[in-house]
Amino acid sequence: MAATEANLRRELIARALEMNRLGVNQGTSGNLSARVPGAMLITPTATPYDELRPAMIARMKLDGGDAWTGPLKPSSEWRFHRDIYLARDDAGAIVHAHSIYATALSMLREDLRATHYMIAAFGGPTVRCTDYAPYGTPELSSLAVEGLRDRTGVLLGSHGMIVTGANLAQALWRAVELETLCKQTWIATRAGPPAILPDDEIARIVERFRGYGAAATEAPVAKKRTPGSVRQKK
Ligand code: 13P
Repeated sequence: MAATEANLRRELIARALEMNRLGVNQGTSGNLSARVPGAMLITPTATPYDELRPAMIARMKLDGGDAWTGPLKPSSEWRFHRDIYLARDDAGAIVHAHSIYATALSMLREDLRATHYMIAAFGGPTVRCTDYAPYGTPELSSLAVEGLRDRTGVLLGSHGMIVTGANLAQALWRAVELETLCKQTWIATRAGPPAILPDDEIARIVERFRGYGAAATEAPVAKKRTPGSVRQKK
């Protein structure tokens, strides 16, 4: 096994544990993957993250259908992970989580709008919310790929979120930011209709963010943080 792949296997476990510690996921719902040449490494299905060992991470070729190598079945959501890598050269890692506020908003089936400028972290003035499709299905995968068009985050209707990143650190950073944005939006909408920032302002922030994510690409596995506290320099 190449050194980088061995490192990625260890990092996948560390990030999975970090994801739950940060409060953006709970239990065994949610899954993470990372791209390696021609293939992806992905967390196994229904396995508590604290029981994971590097050899238990599944490996699937991107052109290998549903075949995998590893002692455990890959995540039931392997299909959308694979299809996103096939559709998006910019995706080096993917995080799927059932975080509380993103999942709650996904039940409303409305696209997230620019209630806060941090929506620019996902590439534009909206984060789409897809229709519902059952987990693990080709239908869900198509909805996910389409929902992510020109974006790095999407809400899956009545299900949860998917975020992509150049690497695992950046994907997890986006997961925390999307959950935080959903929480803020949820709280604001309880008090009244929030102001929506104009598209041209979000376009400017998207430009300013180019390079902002670079800090996240270097970010070490965090110790203990709470959602919204993963910070980088702007
Ligand atoms: P896995 O345990 O198979 O990864 O699935 C959890 C999940 O989030 C399904 O949407």
